[in-house]
Amino acid sequence: MNHLVSPSLLAADFLNLGKDVRLVNRSLADWIHCDIMDGLFVPNISFGLPVIEQIRKIADKPLDVHLMIMDPDRYLSRFHDAGASILTVQYEACTHLHRTVSEISRLGMKAGVALNPHTPVSFLQNILPYVDMVLIMTVNPGFGGQSFIAESYNKIRELSEMIAKGGLSVMIEVDGGVDTTNAQTLVEAGVNVLVAGNAVFSSPDPEATIRKLKLFS
Ligand code: DX5
Ligand code: ZN
Repeated sequence: MNHLVSPSLLAADFLNLGKDVRLVNRSLADWIHCDIMDGLFVPNISFGLPVIEQIRKIADKPLDVHLMIMDPDRYLSRFHDAGASILTVQYEACTHLHRTVSEISRLGMKAGVALNPHTPVSFLQNILPYVDMVLIMTVNPGFGGQSFIAESYNKIRELSEMIAKGGLSVMIEVDGGVDTTNAQTLVEAGVNVLVAGNAVFSSPDPEATIRKLKLFS
C-alpha cells in the first residue's frame, strides 16, 4: 500500500485550530493525528473530548486519535462518539489489552497499540492478530519537537517481519521526530503511516511539507 501521512495537531496553532484543520483538509494528508494526554501516563496535558468533537465537525479526513492516558477503557466509547476513526492505546497503559483492543473494534474503530521506545515489539506476539495498527513511538511520548530515536529502525524491521511471518495485515505507524529527512527511509523500512507535528506546523509552508512527506519530492 501507499503510505499515509497523519499530521499531528499537537503542533498546530491552538488559537486558530480551525484554520490548521482546514489546511490539513486541503493538503495531501490522509488522516489527522490527535494526541490525548492525561498528565499521568505522560508528563503533559494536551486536549480532550470537547476539542475532538469540534475538530470532527470540520475535518474531512479520519481522526487518528492517540491516547496517552492510563486505563483508556474508561473512555473508548466516548472517543468513538466524539468522532475517532482510529483509536490507539499505549501498550504500557493497559492491563487487559486484548479486552481493550476487542472493544475498540466492536465499537467500529480501527484498533491501534502504541509502544514506548523501551517496549520490545516481541511483546505484541499474541495481540498482533487482533490489531489493525501498531504505533512505534520514536520519541518518549508527551511532547512534540523531540529528536527521533534511531534504534527505532530495528523495531520497525522486526515488526515488519513478525507481521509478514504471521500473514497479517497490520499497519505500522511511527510518531515522534518524523520529518522530510527521514520519511522515505522510514517507509522503506516498512512504515505505512507517518505522523509529523513540528515538521509540518513549524515549517514555513505546512501544505508543501505534507506534500513532501507524501510524495518525497
Ligand atoms: C508525542 C506525540 C506526537 C507528537 C509528535 O508524544 O505522540 O504525536 O505530536 O510531534 P513531533 O512530530 O513534533 O515529534
Ligand atoms: Zn501521537
